[in-house]
Order: sequence, then C-alpha cells, then structure tokens
Amino acid sequence: MDLKDKIKNLADAYYNELVAIRRHLHAHPELSFEEKETAAYISNKLDELGIEHTTNIGGHGIVGIIKGKNPTIKTIALRADIDALPIEEKNNCDYASKNIGVMHACGHDVHTTSLLGAAKILNELKEHFEGSIKLIFQPAEEKLPGGASIMIKEGVLKNPAVEVIFGQHVLPQLETGKVAFKSGIAMASCDEIYLTVKGKGGHGAVPHLTIDPILIASHIVVALQSVVSRNANPIMPSVLSIGKFIANGATNVIPEEVKLEGTFRTFDEQWRKEAHQKIKTICESIALSFGGICEVNIEKGYPFLKNDEQTTNASFALAQQYLGAENVEEMPARMTAEDFSYYSQEIPACFYRLGTGNISKGITSSIHTPTFDVDENCLKIGSGLMAWIAIKHLSQ
Ligand code: NI
Repeated sequence: MDLKDKIKNLADAYYNELVAIRRHLHAHPELSFEEKETAAYISNKLDELGIEHTTNIGGHGIVGIIKGKNPTIKTIALRADIDALPIEEKNNCDYASKNIGVMHACGHDVHTTSLLGAAKILNELKEHFEGSIKLIFQPAEEKLPGGASIMIKEGVLKNPAVEVIFGQHVLPQLETGKVAFKSGIAMASCDEIYLTVKGKGGHGAVPHLTIDPILIASHIVVALQSVVSRNANPIMPSVLSIGKFIANGATNVIPEEVKLEGTFRTFDEQWRKEAHQKIKTICESIALSFGGICEVNIEKGYPFLKNDEQTTNASFALAQQYLGAENVEEMPARMTAEDFSYYSQEIPACFYRLGTGNISKGITSSIHTPTFDVDENCLKIGSGLMAWIAIKHLSQ
C-alpha cells in the first residue's frame, strides 16, 4: 500500500475518535487567553499518544514535536488555533456549547481536532519520514495582540528552527471534501480605528453657541473615504469602514462629543503606515477647521498574510494528489484577517481553506454566527491532508 492510502486509511480509522474530540471541544469552548481547560485536554491527548510537548507557551499554547528518522535535518510546523468567540450558540445538537455566551463559531475546534488527528497519523508513520514536525496549538487567535505574535516572541519558530509552517481554516462556503488555496497575498492586515470628536454641546435651537461634534464627525466619515479612493494605489486592495458612530444627544441636544470606530485593511506594510498618518491628519485637521478636536487612536492589528508561492503551489499539487484535482480550488484574496499572518512574515507559510459546508445537509451558516456548524466528514481531510502535506514537504 502506498503512503497516501496508508494516511487515508488511518484518517478513516480515527474518524469516530476525531468526532468525539471535536464534539468535546465544541461543547467546552473558552475565550481567547482563557483556554486553560482546552489546553489541558490537548496536553492529555498528546500524552496518550506519547508525543513530547511543552505547555503554557504564550499563555495556554502548547508545542509538541514528532521526530522522524534523522530528526535534526529539517523541521516543519503545523499550527491550529484553539480559542472560541463570545457568541451564544443557537444550535440544538447534543454537543452545543455548555459555556453560556461562548462558542466555537470560527471552527477552531475543527482546526484543533484536525491537528490532533494529523499528529496521531504522523506519529504512527514516523518511520516513513526524515526530520521533525512541530505541532503548534495556539491560543488567542481572535483577540489582539494575537497568540501567534506572543508564541513567536517566546521562540516557537526556533530551537529547532522551523523551515516552513502550515495552517488550515474552515470555510463553510466550500463543500466538505474540497480544499482551497491562494498563493501570494491572501488575507489583509487589520487595524482598529478609534476616534473621539470633541466639540461644545448645547441646545439644538442655538447652534451658534455650540461646536457641533456630530457635524464634524459626519465630515470626517465622508473625508475618510478619500483615503482609499484617492490615496491608495488602485491596484492595491484597501478598505476603510466606519462601523460605529455614537452621538448621544437628543432632538434638541447637541452632545459634547461623538465616538467613532472603524477598521482599515490592506496588503502593503509601507502603505499601511502612510494610511495611518493620512487618517490622523484628515481627522485632526477637519475637527480643527470646525473649531473642535479629534483624538485619533489607531490600534495596530495583524499584518497581512502572505502565502509563500513555492510552498503553496507545491501544497496545491499535493492536495490534488490526495483529494483528486476536482476537489482542489484556487480562491481569491480576502479582506478578513488572521494572526497566522505573523508566522508568514517570519518564514515561508501556507494557510489553506478546508471545506466544511454541506448544502444537502443544510450546513450553510457562516463563521462567527450562532448557527455555525460543520459537516464532520471534514475531519478526515483536515487531519489526513495535513499529515500528507507535512510528510511530503519533509521528503522534498
Ligand atoms: Ni478563525
């Protein structure tokens, strides 16, 4: 039997166990930076497999290592995020969240289960590859500054140095059985904009005695649209959206201040820096010209995600071998963000999408919604394909 079939058979054989793991994780979600029980559960599973690992890296992060033959010649890493979201689950299944107000609505339970499944397969097959595989169970993907940045600071990519890293993410819009890749720039950088426009409140009937922060803020919202439409290079995707505008006056009350919040996303670090400056200048000078002030706070989030072209193209071909060409798709870049991007700024990386939807079973809800769920058949591919890609990259 060839290696590919061995992996497929193992993924099939472990399927019931993987479903049980995923359901346990799904029922017991924990918020970013609070993944204590989740980490203990993962550590326990790695103990059962006899995989050496270190806990409490970058918070509740865990790093395991599987050594093949000649373990020092090459090291690659596989990463899964383990945290959940502050969402109240509305699914009625028996594995629905038991932690009220917390839910695995971004599929990190699937990512974690898949990595445990891949680990089990790779551990079984360690006579079949040379080099080592680091298993990174990463906390706090959903919350700044992101668990990835902390784990990197704590040396997760060193000792031994990781040559290339792989991660996967659920995609409910893609049918289970399929995966999708995007070579090159794949996901955007993401910064949070917080603005406080201060004027002078007063009676709505005597506006000449006030400095109206609502009018100032309105001008700011309109003017900010010019950052993308007039300053960004048109062939470089950028987006600036204001999603919060709080002006707590009344029909006859002009308030003292207005709070605005928004997001800025793009794919170029230099332009990102320039855009921050542009946003600051526009907000401050418009407020000033109306006699008010604007406090600008831009909280820098994740950088953009770059999928290494050689690694991604090779992984695409490997996925075609494993799943059949008809089940592997190319996808466009997305303006969403993901802290896996931090790894991609350090070493060659490949982050691909795992199809988890199933229209005929009615599994269609988007991620970050209270009804998100997956077709659990995705766990076979989530673990098997990852193991296949890891082994083949080690033997290249
Ligand atoms: Ni996610």
